[in-house]
Amino acid sequence: MNEYRRFAEEVARLAGAILREHQGKIQRIEYKGDIDLVTEVDRMAETLIREEIARRYPDHDVLGEEEGLKSSSSAFRWIVDPIDGTTNYAHGFPYYCVSIGLSIEGEIVAGAVYHPIWDEMYSAARGQGATLNDKAIRVSSVQELKRALLTTGFPYDVIQSGSNYDYFKAMLHRAQGVRRAGSAALDLCQVACGRYEAFWEPGLSAWDVAAGGLIVQEAGGMVTDYRGNAFDPYAHEILASNGQLHAAIQEVFKGG
Ligand code: IPD
Ligand code: CA
Ligand code: CA
Repeated sequence: MNEYRRFAEEVARLAGAILREHQGKIQRIEYKGDIDLVTEVDRMAETLIREEIARRYPDHDVLGEEEGLKSSSSAFRWIVDPIDGTTNYAHGFPYYCVSIGLSIEGEIVAGAVYHPIWDEMYSAARGQGATLNDKAIRVSSVQELKRALLTTGFPYDVIQSGSNYDYFKAMLHRAQGVRRAGSAALDLCQVACGRYEAFWEPGLSAWDVAAGGLIVQEAGGMVTDYRGNAFDPYAHEILASNGQLHAAIQEVFKGG
């Protein structure tokens, strides 16, 4: 698994260099919906990632946010978000990353998340632990919600879905603080290294959470859906925590 983890790191670093190089020089922004945007840098970075995967592992499948699934029914699937935090990227707000995960027969086994501005490389391989710039990381040991810093996000269709307002308010009333910085993959990594105690968000896609979810698990944290079902990157709903606060947060979701 470490071979795949190193490869994910290598490619995330290459793509991160593209993001860094083009920061502040975006030529074209297109809208996928009212708010959901994509830049030429998203496409450029995904193309590079796909080329690198095809060169090293020509038989593997790739699921990427911009080009979708290219499948030959391989057991190996790379799950790629070329820029997680595109709105931040377009505004020059330095909280975005490249996220690359690998699943084998549906199980996430390796992943890397790279923040090109802070030069932070988060990675993990199943059973091998999680690292930040090659140093082992652990989730925090905070046990009380009122001492916890939490983070969340809102889907692009928030006006229609209206989801998460109630949970956001409930957590604001109970936690030390709640943040919304705009990159789910990085939010997960901040839980993994103990800067946040927990992260939750509805409406996410596999490319947002595949790598980050594994990194939290390998850092000793817990990742489930809101009801406590096992981590499934395709579940469109995630709760990741330091483990200690998981039950308390689920109680809040239940209205307790
Ligand atoms: C988005 C970010 C954001 C989250 C959105 C995602 P994108 O991904 O992860 O934090 O709130 O739900 O779609 O569009 O920047 O790749
Ligand atoms: Ca994303
Ligand atoms: Ca993206």
